[in-house]
Amino acid sequence: MEQLERIVERAHAAFQAAGDPAALENAKARFLGKSGELTAQLKSLGALAPEERRSAGARINAAKEQIERALDARRAQLADSRLQARLAEEAIDVTLPARGRGRGGVHPITRTWQRVEAIFGSIGFDIADGPEIESDWYNFTALNNPENHPARSMQDTFYVDLKDAQGLPALLRTHTSPMQVRYARMHRPPIKVIAPGRTYRVDSDATHSPMFHQVEGLWIDEDVSFADLKGVYTDFLHRFFETDALQVRFRPSYFPFTEPSAEIDMQFGSGPLRGRWLEISGAGQVHPSVVRNFGLDPERCIGFAFGSGLERLTMLRYGIDDLRLFFDGDLRFLRQFA
Ligand code: DAH
Repeated sequence: MEQLERIVERAHAAFQAAGDPAALENAKARFLGKSGELTAQLKSLGALAPEERRSAGARINAAKEQIERALDARRAQLADSRLQARLAEEAIDVTLPARGRGRGGVHPITRTWQRVEAIFGSIGFDIADGPEIESDWYNFTALNNPENHPARSMQDTFYVDLKDAQGLPALLRTHTSPMQVRYARMHRPPIKVIAPGRTYRVDSDATHSPMFHQVEGLWIDEDVSFADLKGVYTDFLHRFFETDALQVRFRPSYFPFTEPSAEIDMQFGSGPLRGRWLEISGAGQVHPSVVRNFGLDPERCIGFAFGSGLERLTMLRYGIDDLRLFFDGDLRFLRQFA
């Protein structure tokens, strides 16, 4: 039955020509389907004499098996080439160098904070930390700022729905000065400490932010003078700015917790504000009433305190004219310090 061989050959060729599973199933139908070529052969068996029918049937079945084997082989081939194509498409080049995570940088304010700690640490100042939610007593009253004193209104702040021991609302500290009282009440003189940290006020413009940073300094002993304040602070500035050529002035001022009091101003040496003065710190000889609130005798203990703005120091160091840049999170700005 030459005809059967040709059917098998054609089936082979058709299966080979089928480029995808759907085409292959169509080709299969042409040979093995209800009206397929091989099915037609099987149907024709009925017309044969019984003795011929048996051998013809066997040959047709053999041809059917060949076609089915060819079909299975082609199915496997198509599935395999699909897998290969997918693997090629999704291939990962494991030899490529890793993309690497972006390296973070230290924020300029943090950098200043760290430098301030390193400089004061090197001349024997302890470093203290305290709460940002503060009681009215520590933030104002203990610093000789009695209730209803007008100096309080200069430091309006955010109040917290919590009452302190006196039944007054707790607040976000307006300065790091309460740390003077907290630290001094827990240590014996000589007291020599700085306390950097976050502070808050209802204030917002190019040189003020509702959240900002200060560093408090306190040195109390039996004979620490205003001259020591000038010496220590000027030396700090020379080291912080890495130059002795600084324009600094101690301007007489008023703070309830110091007497005499001064504000320390510094001139911009670079940047758009070159030549302009910026207040960087309050300072003074600690007021006797505050020394008493430290739990110490003002007849025996005397010293100075200062509170400086970390943003201000950073602006002067890098010649930055707008403090809000520190908190916008703009990477183009921040990367310059990384
Ligand atoms: N606490 C003051 C403020 O935030 C700054 C200050 C002035 C701190 C005089 C001091 C000081 O320690 O002695 O404006």
